[in-house]
Amino acid sequence: MAFKRLGYSSNDKTKLIVKAQRVLEKNYQGSHTVPSAGLYPHQVLWDSCFVAIGKSHYDPQRAKHEVISLLDAQWSNGMVPHIIFNSATRFWWDRQIWRRWINFSSPNHLATSGISQPPMLAEAIVRIGRVLPLAGRQEWYKSVFPRLLAYHLWLYRERDPRGEGLVLQLHPWETGLDTSPPCIAELHAKSWPGWLNILDIPLIDKIGEYIRVDNKFVAKGERASNAEAIALHLLRNRIRHRNYDSSKVLENAKFAIQDITYNSILIRANTLLEEIAVTINESIPTQLKRHTSKAARALESLWDKGTNSYYSRDFISNKLIKEPSIGGLLPLYSGAISKQRAAELVKDIEDKDSFALNYPIPSVPANSDWFSPVRYWQGPTWVNTNWLIIDGLKRYGFNELAKKLTTSTLQMVNQHGFYEYFDPYTGMPHGADNFSWTAALTIDLAYSHKTKL
Ligand code: GLC
Repeated sequence: MAFKRLGYSSNDKTKLIVKAQRVLEKNYQGSHTVPSAGLYPHQVLWDSCFVAIGKSHYDPQRAKHEVISLLDAQWSNGMVPHIIFNSATRFWWDRQIWRRWINFSSPNHLATSGISQPPMLAEAIVRIGRVLPLAGRQEWYKSVFPRLLAYHLWLYRERDPRGEGLVLQLHPWETGLDTSPPCIAELHAKSWPGWLNILDIPLIDKIGEYIRVDNKFVAKGERASNAEAIALHLLRNRIRHRNYDSSKVLENAKFAIQDITYNSILIRANTLLEEIAVTINESIPTQLKRHTSKAARALESLWDKGTNSYYSRDFISNKLIKEPSIGGLLPLYSGAISKQRAAELVKDIEDKDSFALNYPIPSVPANSDWFSPVRYWQGPTWVNTNWLIIDGLKRYGFNELAKKLTTSTLQMVNQHGFYEYFDPYTGMPHGADNFSWTAALTIDLAYSHKTKL
């Protein structure tokens, strides 16, 4: 098997990889993999990118299919939607509610959402490319480059209207860290329907229970409140009423943020897009370079001297949203910050009052008022953010810390299973079981690092 080729001898590690592959097999739907069969029955953009990264190690062909099925749903304006809906009859309402046909760029043959998610596509494409021999890699890159480029062009054309080098997100769901403190704080401050405050709790709960499915699969109290869930759905409806046209939404936007995680991922993705272009003798158009050349400096403008941290920014007020979260560490993944800034972020990762808990790295530092060890993106440890940070740490030469974090992540998953998120104090698992990106990135971490379990 492939892990023998890579020289691993650890039995436990081998068993863990095999179990992880089984999870991905379970969630495989013929052309793509869903995040978790019960709670998330549709294909989701960044989830599938992580899946492709994991599969590239043992089944590059299927890893390619994962990416291709995302690109098949691309809108003609370049957007890659964050959800491609399951076509089974029972998901009729999920498909219907987005009414993507109101925007002429949406595809006819597939039902999709009308917003996007963190642009991990370039990373997935390159990870697959790197396991292929040069000719195969070039062929692969040629087959996807035009569509990947169109996606990056869409991102800057529609989402960087001031030409700053940072793109904006119109909904917390676009950030991938849906209920992270900066998102929820903005939702409460800017996009909170007044009538929600005058409804009584039982009525809110009734509406909430009706519109949401997550509470049927995970413990109540771990996810957004019912009122927040309603506000999130109403914000989606606002965007839908403006036909998913970013400029129309921005005319009177309630929620528009330059999310630090999203932008860090995009900056890295631009570097990888360039790598792909060079491999196949293509060039990056000047209109894209105009935006990307500003990105590193623009990212630095999200640094706050007072608190020594990076934050997301409210696009409308132009103010930093000073709510600490794991997003503040993600510039490490961008590769665009200075070594000095990277060292400051490392201090936070190693700070016991902040991010250095028993099972790092919590999605919110322990000393934040938002912190809860079990509430979704407000404290638990997630494998995908660990993976992004480990990757960034290695690029800045913090190899020991990257190794430590890899080992603790693998041990956490080995002890507690392939869950969606974990309590950073006890390692206890929460959210969906058999969660695809936890399995896929476990495979990648296990293959890429010669650490023992
Ligand atoms: C949750 C996460 C999002 C993920 C989705 C499917 O909504 O917040 O990032 O893509 O689940 O796993």
